[in-house]
Amino acid sequence: MHINNHPILGERLHDPVTIYFNGKPLRAYQQQTIAAALIANDVKKFGESRKLMQARGLFCSRGRCCSCYMTVNGEDHVRTCMKMVEDGMEVFPNIGDPDVRGNNHGN
Ligand code: FES
Repeated sequence: MHINNHPILGERLHDPVTIYFNGKPLRAYQQQTIAAALIANDVKKFGESRKLMQARGLFCSRGRCCSCYMTVNGEDHVRTCMKMVEDGMEVFPNIGDPDVRGNNHGN
């Protein structure tokens, strides 16, 4: 659920955009971080821990941990609680190790 009209902060969300989570289109607003947009769309699992394969999601919400890492537009390990949404952004959960030998990271 998006909070469109906060009783103290007023109207903050006014520029709708579409982001894609695992290829599925979601409504977001330019004034939101990726993590806030996902939570508002009821997405709570952002990835899995490497060794124990446990669910990860929003934890500190201020860029101090690594719980919200996701792959955004092909870039691995983006702190989604700190990055604002952009129209057409493609977001994938952080599951397993990144493809460090792939085209996005050089050879
Ligand atoms: S939730 Fe801790 S860095 Fe994003």
